[in-house]
Amino acid sequence: MGQKMSTEPLSRSEVFGQLRRELYGEEQSSHSNTHAFIILGASGDLAKKKIYPTLWWLFRDGLLPDNTYFVGFARSDLTVEDIKTACLPHMKVADEENESLSTFFKRNSYIRGRYDDDGSFAQLNAHLSSLPGGADANRLFYLALPPTVYHPVSTNIRAKCMSSNRGWNRIIVEKPFGRDLQSSQELSAHLSTLFTEEQIYRIDHYLGKEMVQNLMVLRFGNRIFGPIWNRNSVACVVLTFKEPFGTQGRGGYFDEFGIIRDVMQNHLLQMLCLVAMEKPASTSPADVRDEKVKVLKCIAPVAASDVVLGQYVGDPEGEGHSKLGYLDDPTVPEGSCTPTFATAVLYVQNERWDGVPFILRCGKALNEQKAEVRLQFTDVPGDIFGKSCQRNELVVRVQPNEAIYLKMMTKRPGVFFSPEETELDLTYKSRYKDVKLPDAYERLILDVFCGNQMHFVRSDELQEAWRIFTPLLHQVEAEKTHPIPYRYGSRGPNESDDLVKRAGFRYEGTYKWVQPHST
Ligand code: NDP
Ligand code: BG6
Repeated sequence: MGQKMSTEPLSRSEVFGQLRRELYGEEQSSHSNTHAFIILGASGDLAKKKIYPTLWWLFRDGLLPDNTYFVGFARSDLTVEDIKTACLPHMKVADEENESLSTFFKRNSYIRGRYDDDGSFAQLNAHLSSLPGGADANRLFYLALPPTVYHPVSTNIRAKCMSSNRGWNRIIVEKPFGRDLQSSQELSAHLSTLFTEEQIYRIDHYLGKEMVQNLMVLRFGNRIFGPIWNRNSVACVVLTFKEPFGTQGRGGYFDEFGIIRDVMQNHLLQMLCLVAMEKPASTSPADVRDEKVKVLKCIAPVAASDVVLGQYVGDPEGEGHSKLGYLDDPTVPEGSCTPTFATAVLYVQNERWDGVPFILRCGKALNEQKAEVRLQFTDVPGDIFGKSCQRNELVVRVQPNEAIYLKMMTKRPGVFFSPEETELDLTYKSRYKDVKLPDAYERLILDVFCGNQMHFVRSDELQEAWRIFTPLLHQVEAEKTHPIPYRYGSRGPNESDDLVKRAGFRYEGTYKWVQPHST
């Protein structure tokens, strides 16, 4: 049967049917292997808010292989019904989907056990072997657990729960991958005694986001950007992550890590790699990850003089508890020096980028939610417009409201001849009206099923990322450096703007965006 003409919109099931064939091939969609997806830490926050809902969405849309079974494992005394109750508020179930939801939960089971007890894992294995496909089923283990139990859990999985030689085993590990270079190396060394690198999927969920994945296509699928994507034309690159809320009772967890470990060392650095890397030989995971590692190897450890750290304080004018300061969170240790905001300037010392500052900024309890990549270009040489032209900027907005826009000068329309700031604007909501962008976890979990490691972090990438930030983290922690206070809901400390300006970013404050009317 021929394909529909491109002008005819595909129905939802046709879209998913096509995608499924792309993912697993025709053969797999009719008769299949059996898969077991095991969620270790099934009672936890991540499982409840992200993993179960994601599995449900994939199941609902028919994107998982046939015969996939879901098995939760944790210490708590739970039933599948308890898990369903805990997850439902996060699952977005439409009325007509209730039957499918029951089928999903019928594919679920739960085993109670201890993480350090090999007997519990023997029990888990017995249960897995009793499911259709038995010991031959492919097994995906999701470690939705605190890093403190990674060691015993991974050891027990390896010793007790691997599928037979006819099925494959894949282990999905959540960040944080260690606290510094040494602990991360210890964890990597431990995992590598148990599993091959091909079996380990280290999640950085920013790599599953639409616009982060788009960076490679934007750069390497267009002729226009290649020649200007270097130190000759780019004045600086700014990578930003902002959240408008604080730790919200998660302060206990956050305080052990701080914003550098939580966001900068992983999400922002991964985006930096995709902006800075050379064109890979192909889009194979190995080639892409080789290029990312090369970029990281060209970055020297961040110097404290290139960093501004902040911590939010309550906004006396803000309403209620939501605007309390970091130290007012009862789960945060008294007098904590943990930064909730950081700006750092990094340099990629290679032929393409020598001297170009890569400015990484991230923070909680700021004025807005935003994640973006911004390239600011150099001034136009040989100005003939009396200094009235501002620098071009190419902005890839990762979230919210995905967009790519290029800030540029144009002749002021009409009888005038003066330059005016405007933009070329690709706003996804207007250009791709009917396209639903999948959640980052949906893409990444599908990738694990398909065995595609491109959007996962390889152990050498991780090692380099820690090498860059560990000396700074150790110094700040040893000296108990007090972060600069900034008001809840502000743009962060003024010292950050000063650093960014010193590094070479120019903010004129003249650009005004007029949102087009949607018709
Ligand atoms: P701006 O020129 O307003 O801002 C440019 C950059 O300067 C931002 O990174 C901003 O970061 C930073 N900045 C702001 N104030 C200062 C300051 N006082 N000192 C130093 N740096 C500062 O341009 P934008 O690109 O941000 O665009 C303005 C608005 O228009 C945005 O809300 C944008 O999303 C919107 N827009 C949306 C489009 C779309 O949806 N398609 C297209 C074009 C624009 P920060 O404030 O985070 O520190
Ligand atoms: C997580 C951090 O990795 O990313 C959180 O641990 C942060 O602190 C979250 O809130 C942000 O993710 P997203 O997808 O909402 O931008």
